[in-house]
Amino acid sequence: MCGIFGYVGHQNALPLLVEGLRRLEYRGYDSTGVGLKHNDTIELLRAVGKVGSLQTVLPSSHNATVGIAHTRWATHGGVTEANTHPHASFDGEVHLVHNGIIENFRQLKAQLSASGITCSSETDSEVLAHHIALALKEGRTPQEAVANVLSRARGTWGLCILFTSHDLLICARHGSPLILGKGDGEMFISSDPHALAHHTNRVIYLEDGDMATVTEEGVDLSRLTGQHVEANVTVLDQNWGESELGDSPHFMHKEIYEQPDALRHCIAGRVERTLGRGRLGGMRLTNDVMVQTPYVGLLGCGTAYHAAEIGKMLIESMARLPAVANISSEFRSNDPVINPKALHLAVSQSGETADTIAAIREIQLKGGQAFGVVNVVGSTIARLCGQGVYIHSGPEQSVASTKAFTNMVAALTIFATQIGRTGNLSRAEGRAIMEGLQQTPHLMEAYFDDVGPIDEAVELVANAKSVLFLGRGLSAPVAKEGALKLMEIAYIPCLAYPAGEMKHGPIALLEEGSPVVIVAPNDHVKDKTLSAIHECRARGARIILIHEKGDPIEQEGDVSIGVPAVHPQLTPLLTVLPLQLLAYRTAIKLGCDVDRPRNLAKSVTVE
Ligand code: M6R
Repeated sequence: MCGIFGYVGHQNALPLLVEGLRRLEYRGYDSTGVGLKHNDTIELLRAVGKVGSLQTVLPSSHNATVGIAHTRWATHGGVTEANTHPHASFDGEVHLVHNGIIENFRQLKAQLSASGITCSSETDSEVLAHHIALALKEGRTPQEAVANVLSRARGTWGLCILFTSHDLLICARHGSPLILGKGDGEMFISSDPHALAHHTNRVIYLEDGDMATVTEEGVDLSRLTGQHVEANVTVLDQNWGESELGDSPHFMHKEIYEQPDALRHCIAGRVERTLGRGRLGGMRLTNDVMVQTPYVGLLGCGTAYHAAEIGKMLIESMARLPAVANISSEFRSNDPVINPKALHLAVSQSGETADTIAAIREIQLKGGQAFGVVNVVGSTIARLCGQGVYIHSGPEQSVASTKAFTNMVAALTIFATQIGRTGNLSRAEGRAIMEGLQQTPHLMEAYFDDVGPIDEAVELVANAKSVLFLGRGLSAPVAKEGALKLMEIAYIPCLAYPAGEMKHGPIALLEEGSPVVIVAPNDHVKDKTLSAIHECRARGARIILIHEKGDPIEQEGDVSIGVPAVHPQLTPLLTVLPLQLLAYRTAIKLGCDVDRPRNLAKSVTVE
C-alpha cells in the first residue's frame, strides 16, 4: 500500500514525479504529495485525493532536478493534508516519504515531546524526520543519522529521504519494497518496478536492512550496520506487457479482456503433451522430491486464496496427495506444523502481500520450503522463496484482480498435472487436461464474443440488499471469487457458500426476489447443485445461473449465462469470466470508481 517515487538527475523532476505517482496510484490513493529541491530550498506540495487533486495545486513548471513523491493509503491518522507525505522535520532540514508502519512511533514521539518538538501530523512516519534532523544536529552525516534512527525504530519501512543541505537522497528498506533505477546521469526510485520501466531497465532491488545513498552519479549501497554492499544490477523483463490504459475505459475492463493472451503467456513452454503433463521449470522439482512430498500447502489472500483453494482440489484429485489451502493472514498466528518435506506454494499477484510474506517466513523458520506462484517479477515473495513460478499475467493495475486469478489457476493446474503424473494421474487424462488448457484461451475468446445477458443479471443485483453466490466442488471458490469482485467494486454485501451449505443457514436470507448467483458447470456435482437451485427458487429467489452453453440446465435460471464447454477440471477458467463482467458492469451502473474502489489498495503491504 502507498507508492513512493523519487528522482535525482539532470531533468526537470516535477513531471517525472507526477508521472511516477500516476503509475503508482493503484497502490493507494487517499492523498498525494511531492517534495521538490532546488538550490537548498525544498518545497512541499500536497493534496487530499488522487493525483488529479495534487495537480490542481502544482505549479506549471519547477526548476527542481531532485524530488520525492508519495501516494498514500492511510494507516495512522485520517485522510488529511497534514497526514499526507512528504513529512518535514521541525527545522526544515529533512523531508521524507515512508511506506510501512513504525510500530514504536508513540515511544519515538514521546522522546520528541521531551525535546520540545511537536508533530504536525498523526502519522507514524513524521517522527522519523524529526529524529533524523536531531541526529544531524548532533554532528552525524546524513547516512549516520538515518542509520542511527532506524536502529531505534521497530516496524517496516521503505523510505526515501531528501535533505535541504545535502545533494543526495537516502533510501532504506525493511519489509517494504524499494527499487532503484539507473539511468544515464540520473537515478529513479520507486516502490514498484513497473513505474521504472519507462525510464530504464537497469534496476537494483534493495534488500531488508539496506540503505542507499543516491546521487545523479549512481548509488552507494550499505547495510544499516555500515558494511558496504555491492549493488546488484538486474535487467527488467522487456516483455512484461502493456501497462497503459490505451482505448479501454478502465483497467479492470482491459484486464478482463486480456485474459486469453495472458493465459497463452502463462502456459507457453510449459506443456509436455506427450508426457501428459505440464512442467514448471522454475520450481526445480525432481520426481524423487515430488514422490516423497507428504502434502502440499497453499497460501494466499483474497483472490489468490480462491485460486489456492482451486489448486488444492486439483492437486488432491490429480495426485491423490493431501493438499491444504490456507489464508495467509491466519497462518502464522495458528502456529502451524510444518513438515520440511512438504511443498508450500505462496500464491500472490503482487508478490508484496505482507500476510503472505509473514506466512512464508514462518514456513522457512520452521525448516519448510516455500515456492512462489507470483506475477510481479523480482517481487519480495519471488526473491524470498528463490524458487517457484511466474504466472506471466503482465501488469495488473485494477485493484480487483482478474487476469491474475485465471493465470494462478492455470499455473496451479500445470503443477497439479506435474505432481499428478508422478503418481495417480494417467498419461491419457493428463494429456486431456493439458490439451484442454491449450484450448482455453480460444474458449475465453469465444465467450467474450458473446458474453450473454450480463446486463439482465446487473438489473437483478444492482439494487439488492445482498447477493448470495453458490457453487460446489471447483465452483465453490469461483462463487467466492465472484462475490469478492462484486463486493469490492460495487459495495454490495455478498455472501458465498458451497451450495450444500446453503440450507445450513444462508437460506434464511432469501425472500421474494433475492438474487442468487449459482455456478453450475457440467461436472460431476452439477445434479447436486441443481437441488440448491430448486431450494432457492422455492423461496422466491431469482437465479442468475452460470452454466455450460447448450446444457439443458439453462432453463433453471431467471438469467442464464452460458460459457463454452471445457474439460471439467478447467471450468473455473471460464465460469469466472461472467462473474468478473457482472461485477464490472454493476459497478459502472452504480457510478462506482471501478479501478480505485474506496478503502482498498492494490497491494496490501501491511499485516
Ligand atoms: O497481490 P496478492 O495476489 O497477494 O493480493 C491478494 C489480495 O489482496 C487481492 O487478491 C485482493 O483480494 C484483491 N483486491 C481481489 O480482487
